[in-house]
Parts: sequence; C-alpha cells; structure tokens
Amino acid sequence: MASTRGLLLALLLSFCVVSALGRTLPWDDKIVMPTEEEDDKGEQGTRWAVLIAGSSGYWNYRHQADVCHAYQILKRGGLKDENIIVFMYDDIAYDPENPYPGKIINKPDGPDVYEGVPKDYTGEDVTVSNFYAAILGDKSAIKGGSGKVVDSGPNDHIFIYYTDHGGPGVLGMPTYPNLYADDFVDTLKKKAAAGTYKELVIYLEACESGSIFEGLLPEGLNIYVTTASNAEESSWGTYCPGMYPPPPPEYDTCLGDLYSVAWMEDTEKENLKKETLEDQYVIVKARTSNHNTYSTGSHVMQYGDIHIDVEELERYLGFDPANENVTKPELPESLSSNFEILTHVPQREADLLHLKHKYYKAEKGSLRKSLAGRQLSRTIVHRKHLDNSVKLIGEILFGSENGLEKLTAVRPAGTVVVDDWACLKGMVRTFEASCGPLTQYGMKHMRAFANICNAGIDTAKMSLASSKACTSSPTAGFGLWSPVTSKFSA
Ligand SMILES: *[C@@H]1O[C@H](CO)[C@@H](O)[C@H](O)[C@H]1NC(C)=O
Repeated sequence: MASTRGLLLALLLSFCVVSALGRTLPWDDKIVMPTEEEDDKGEQGTRWAVLIAGSSGYWNYRHQADVCHAYQILKRGGLKDENIIVFMYDDIAYDPENPYPGKIINKPDGPDVYEGVPKDYTGEDVTVSNFYAAILGDKSAIKGGSGKVVDSGPNDHIFIYYTDHGGPGVLGMPTYPNLYADDFVDTLKKKAAAGTYKELVIYLEACESGSIFEGLLPEGLNIYVTTASNAEESSWGTYCPGMYPPPPPEYDTCLGDLYSVAWMEDTEKENLKKETLEDQYVIVKARTSNHNTYSTGSHVMQYGDIHIDVEELERYLGFDPANENVTKPELPESLSSNFEILTHVPQREADLLHLKHKYYKAEKGSLRKSLAGRQLSRTIVHRKHLDNSVKLIGEILFGSENGLEKLTAVRPAGTVVVDDWACLKGMVRTFEASCGPLTQYGMKHMRAFANICNAGIDTAKMSLASSKACTSSPTAGFGLWSPVTSKFSA
C-alpha cells in the first residue's frame, strides 16, 4: 500500500518536473523536425507533396521521368515518404523499348531517378477521383493504391506538381476521364474551406496549362501557381531525339519537358533558403521561353495569390544541405543577347517524333520497321480524322464561311475558356459517341467544344452535327484508339 502510494508520488513528481521543464526551457519550442518548420508565430507545419504524371506509353517517357525526378528532389530536401504522394502509370522503367530496364533518366547522361520512388497510385489507380481524394485527405474516397493522402493541418505547406498533355480547360490522365479545370479548382476551394493548409503551391506543365486557372482560380485561397504555358499555346518536350541537346542515341524518346526540367535543374543547384518562388519563376520563365525568343518555347505564367512569391522555396521543397553555401541566385537579364538557342518539341508532336525515330532506325525489311511504319501512319490518319471531324462539325454548326473562325476564336486574356463546364463535358461525350475517343492529341480541340458551348448550341444539335461529320469520315479501317493503353486496337 505504502509502496504504491510512493510510486504514485514519484510518477506525479516526475510529471510535474517534465511539464515544468517543458514550460521553462527556452529552446524547447525551437526544436524542429527536419521536415517541419516554424512560421512567424512559432507554429510548426509539415511539408506535403502530390506528384502526378498524367500519361502512359513509352513515347511519353518524359512525364513520368519528370515526376520521378521531382520525388528525388523532395527526398533530398528532407520530405518524408509518408508526406509525398506519387501518381504515375509506372509502365516506363520496364517497357521493352527502355535501353536500361529498371532505370529512368530525366536528362542526357543524368542519374537514375526511378529508384526509391513510392508507388502510391500506379496503372488503373491513377484516376482523377483518387487525385482529388488525395489532395482533400479523403481516405474513404480512395479506390486502390497505397491509400496515402494529404492528411494535412492548418500550418502545413503543400506542393502539387502535375506534368502531361493538356488542352484548353483540360488535363490528360492515363485513365478515363480526363481532368477538367472546374473540378480541379473546386477541389482546391474545398481544401481551402477545410482549413487544412497554410499555403499551397502548384507547378503545372501541359499544353494550354494557363487555361486551367485563367479566370477560374480566385485570389485569397493562399494558393500560388505557375504554369508552363499561357492559355493558348503548346508546352514543350526537351532532350528529344534529333534536337539540341539530344538524349543519348539509344533513346528514341524525349527525356524531359522544358518547364519541368527548368524548375528542377534550377532547384538542384540553388540554396532554397535563399531562392524565392519569384526568383525561380523568373529563372524558369527565361529558360522556358528559350531566352525570350519563344522559338520552341512558351510563356510561363503565374496565377492565384502571386504575393506569396516572396517566400523562400525551402518552405515547399525542403532544403538540400549540399547547397548550403550557394548564394542567392543571379537572375537572368530579361533580354540577353548572348545565349545558346536550344531546340524542343511541342508536346503533341513528341509521339510522332518517337515513332519516326523508331521507324528510321529500324533495320530495313525488319518486322520492327514495318510495325513502326504502320503505327506512324495510323497515328497520322487518326489525327487527320479528328481534325477533319471537328472542322466539319464547325461548318455544319456555323456555316462553311465562319466555321473555323468560330471554333478557334480565343477569348480575351483573363477570361475563363468556357462558361458552362457541364456543357463542355457533354460536348466531348457527344463528339466521342460519334467520332471515337478524343485522345491525347484531340485535347487540342477543347477550345472548339468550349466555343460551341459559349455560342449556346445544345447537345442535340451537336449530336446531329457529330454523327453527320463522322459518318462521312468514319473511324473504321484503323482500329480504335484506347485512351487507357494509348494504343490502337488492330
Ligand atoms: C560550407 O562552408 C563551410 C565553411 O567554409 C564548410 O565548412 C562546409 O563544409 C561547406 N558546406 C558544403 C556543403 O560545402
């Protein structure tokens, strides 16, 4: 009895000592874990990241290479695997075309970036709904995959990086359906309303990527975005065969994307305690614009709460101690005359480039050559089918004089691409019902569908026009394109 009381007393005493120490030690609240940080009020937060490659297929090697590379950077920056959520189809490393099975590189003679990448969501689990659920921290809405989500709190910082093909108002996914801008921005608004982050940064690489946020992302959500391109231009692949600089000759595919490698290669050489988001924006903009020439380059854009850009990158990407002695970056001059012009490939031409290289390099008379040739000609025929169908639909709806002009009209900068998103999604479904899947390439026609909606044309009219247009240029004869495997059926 007495000994129990003694033990209780001892426990109570030690508790008091610990709590008293906890209150009085001056350095106590300065102890910060490597992945955490303090804000101005001494509150700590965790760094989270969501990395997503929206494509599959060896000809899209570069998107998954970008994402793997981004993971390595965050890892070196001190983020923990439990806080990095990776979405990638994961069909590149062991694709039979890969000259080094099990390895992925993101620049010529660069290191392997595949090793250690968490396979949270791969293959058929790379879906729009899993992507949104992961951002929202909604475990119950996740289907398949590791179940890892952004389980963040009010002091946390979140970094989202997406790379793939896109089109006005849309981003590609390796599964059906694609990602629409309104749903993405709604997800961000929900996350903001939940109060489960302090600030959120998005880096986005895709064609027409500015259109995802233009006129759509409000200020005041503490979200800062940069995109590879404005709302009406291509983004570019880099380290592509036959371009400068080229990949090693054994690669028939582009190794990276221009905006993506620009931010990553910059991040790797800077001191992220000194470089701000704005510094990186200026540096990446210069490289992505090909030194302001915009020859094989695009306009990097900023959206959302741009004032956040005075913050150091460390808050989001962590800090690599190897760069602790690097000084604040020198910013490129806006119009320098002394530079090397590099050559890049528009996202939508990169698969043709891959097939062409495969075709020309294959031995004369070989099965490989005939297959590559067939694939190349099918791809070209399918593109013509899509282009012609959309053009024809425009002529049916607006008359042969005005058709093309109406379909390609671009709204003023700062305006959302379409007013009625349900209409836009419906138009795509209606088109696909008669003309076959829109596919990666076909996303370039999203503006045409948006303009059809903006002109107040209803689905019934669109349905008639689509079936008319696509009976006169049928998809038959070259099989159907699968948006999942990105391959034609025989
Ligand atoms: C940075 O500089 C200090 C002082 O010269 C040196 O001790 C340290 O090793 C350097 N750090 C790195 C990563 O080079």
